[in-house]
Amino acid sequence: MTIYPQARLTQLPIQDVDFPSSFAADFVSEFVKACELDNSGRGIYHSWKVCIISCRIGRKLNLDKNSMKELFFASLLHDIGGVMVGGHVIDLLTQIPDIYGQKSNFRIFAHPHRGETILGTFPTFRNISEIVGTHHEFFDGTGFPKGLKGDRIPLASRIIRVADAVDIAMQVHSAEDPDEIISLLGIFSGEEFDPDVYDIFIDLVKNEALFDEVKTDDVIEMNMTALKKEMHDHHLLSSPDTLNRFFKMVASIADNLTSSEYNHSLRVAELSVQAAYLMDLNESEILTIRWASFLHDIGKIAGNRSIYRKREKLTDEEWLTVKAHSQKTYDILNKVAGMEKIAYYALYHHENQDGSGYPEGLRGEKIPLASRIMHVADAYDAITSNRPYHRKKQQEDALSELKKNVNKQFDPNVVEVFSKFLMS
Ligand SMILES: [Fe+2]
Ligand SMILES: [Fe+2]
Ligand SMILES: [Fe+2]
Repeated sequence: MTIYPQARLTQLPIQDVDFPSSFAADFVSEFVKACELDNSGRGIYHSWKVCIISCRIGRKLNLDKNSMKELFFASLLHDIGGVMVGGHVIDLLTQIPDIYGQKSNFRIFAHPHRGETILGTFPTFRNISEIVGTHHEFFDGTGFPKGLKGDRIPLASRIIRVADAVDIAMQVHSAEDPDEIISLLGIFSGEEFDPDVYDIFIDLVKNEALFDEVKTDDVIEMNMTALKKEMHDHHLLSSPDTLNRFFKMVASIADNLTSSEYNHSLRVAELSVQAAYLMDLNESEILTIRWASFLHDIGKIAGNRSIYRKREKLTDEEWLTVKAHSQKTYDILNKVAGMEKIAYYALYHHENQDGSGYPEGLRGEKIPLASRIMHVADAYDAITSNRPYHRKKQQEDALSELKKNVNKQFDPNVVEVFSKFLMS
């Protein structure tokens, strides 16, 4: 198999990639929101609320611009290690509100470190990953996973601890009255919470109506929009190489939760890039195809994730949910300025040449070439991997299966290119 020189792709000038400075804040917030939809598709907004409260505390503490940015991203991502196939760590934390119970529940205990490990694979998020890893440490040293104490816990983690406990307390006690929440949490100042951070929180509640800022979904959406405007960042994700690593990390998070095969999206990306290169597409288009491939299935993260791993036959209703995933991918990505083309390519990765695919039943050349390439790469990787419904096949059998479905599922030219580089 010919290997396309990958390094060249990441040397493209940033203006060819054309991502606005709002990209990082927009993408991370939309991705986290999608991770926090419940099985019925309703947003729980836990991390958005924690982010809004944390940033209000951070501002009161006069954190510098860079620390505010770290606090913003770390609070949005604080529970990324707690996104599970069958739910979210917040469901467990609200059922087990006491610290001893939490420490003895493996999923709860492990989620800060899991988050730290996931984010640690992306060098730009190194500090953010450390904050995420320590967001359940208690000021008096009785938290987890490490039992760090006082100033040894990063300030951002101490801030997130307060904001996180506030949202959990609101959910556990269905409390909306600020006085009730304050009386519930006050006893933990100096134990779970840094007393200085907690005092600022109390001040914000009493004098600036902090709770009103996270009261309803509409208000949360409005405050997040305002907060994102402050977080525009030219430096965080500003080169194709950084973006490449970032999308890879996101693809791994989604694959680990929704696919029975690790690194599915990464392999689809490699195969699609090879085909795009042999079809003489220009470098910026190849890079767009790579990123669209990394992200093509992230819609699976939104809502009921367990059906993608189900071994039994799917019900008609479940099958409809599965088929909605490309539209969900589009909906997440299309909210992020700069990702419109990637969203569009990903939307059509299950369209068939004869019009029998989804979501729109497009035919032939009406389907973007990039999506036709991704469709073949996706199918090839599915055939050559073990899936709940079949054993993996060898390369030659996989190729003949692709050829059998030319003009039905697949574009003949794309399959031709695949057989060329797979057999070389
Ligand atoms: Fe957490
Ligand atoms: Fe949390
Ligand atoms: Fe898909």
